[in-house]
Amino acid sequence: MAKKILILPGDGIGQEVTSSMSEVLQYLIDEQNLDFQLSERKVGGSSFDEFGKPLTEETLDMAKNSDAILFGAVGGPEWDGLGWDDRPEQALLGLRKSLGLFANLRPAFLFNELASASPLKNHIIENLDILIVRELTGGVYFGEPRGIVDNETPKYGFNTMIYNEDEIRRIAKVAFEAAMNRDKKLCSVEKANVLEVSKFWRGVVTEMSAEYPEVELSHQLADNTAMQLVLNPNQYDVIVSGNLFGDILSDIAATLSGSIGMLPSASLNSSSQGMYEPCHGSAPDIAGLGIANPIAMIASLAMAFEYSLERVDLARRIESAIKTFISKGYRTKDLSTSNKFMKTEEVAPSIIRILQDEHE
Ligand code: IPM
Ligand code: MG
Repeated sequence: MAKKILILPGDGIGQEVTSSMSEVLQYLIDEQNLDFQLSERKVGGSSFDEFGKPLTEETLDMAKNSDAILFGAVGGPEWDGLGWDDRPEQALLGLRKSLGLFANLRPAFLFNELASASPLKNHIIENLDILIVRELTGGVYFGEPRGIVDNETPKYGFNTMIYNEDEIRRIAKVAFEAAMNRDKKLCSVEKANVLEVSKFWRGVVTEMSAEYPEVELSHQLADNTAMQLVLNPNQYDVIVSGNLFGDILSDIAATLSGSIGMLPSASLNSSSQGMYEPCHGSAPDIAGLGIANPIAMIASLAMAFEYSLERVDLARRIESAIKTFISKGYRTKDLSTSNKFMKTEEVAPSIIRILQDEHE
């Protein structure tokens, strides 16, 4: 059966980077004669502008029926003033929740050639290779009750950080299994010194470690992890965390690698359906200038081939092409140390040339 792929470019540089990714995808479809059915829809602010909603029912239905969703980025200052439900970010949260995409895999790795682009000293950052497994459909992002009460004095706002045992088990399972395929080290991150929900999380993860005797499990408090990621990031292999702490830690981890423009992510549900997006956002400040780095989006396509499209071989080929691209010295503006750099539109043709060369 044909695999269905939905492309959601979104806003800002989301459009530029997905168009580069689409060129690479189309090349592989032609080369391999893949039976893929592609569709493209607006999402986020651009969907709001056209349809009055950041995520239309039709787009959501298409997403539910897709094997893989390739998502650019959403948001921008022009939509900042919108009401809560109309904000571009709601499209992202709605897709995650409606598709049950609970497991967010955010790798942070360094190409050693880019060490000088990292804010950290070379000897601290070299060989960085971390995987952050972030819980994506629960915790304080979605916990009820929540709200803003403005008819009392003083007015207040509140949210609920809540995890049940099943939610913790299923994300911990993903993390333990990822660790088994890597260096067999897992660090679970929470705030068990302050929050009951974290104390409970720690207990469940500890209990589960009995099923994975080969994995060395440690626990860390989120504030300490934020510091340790900067002081000694190579102590980590896999990190597992809830939605909010995972959000924060993955931004820190991403920036260590030189440029957030390099890192992909996958958000998976229990039936291998996945949404794939770069870790960076819509970067309105550089949108339309043709200088965005599309590598994170192209690497997200590799993750889609690996986790949803049953072509790990093509995932490896894309990753290898990206590696070659970097080792040949090609640099987009975010990575360039001089005023010479490659424009966004030049990246896909060059990745495709490498894919061809490496295939022969
Ligand atoms: C992310 C983003 C989102 C999040 C925002 C845009 C809703 O920061 O994917 O990390 O907080 O999850
Ligand atoms: Mg974030």
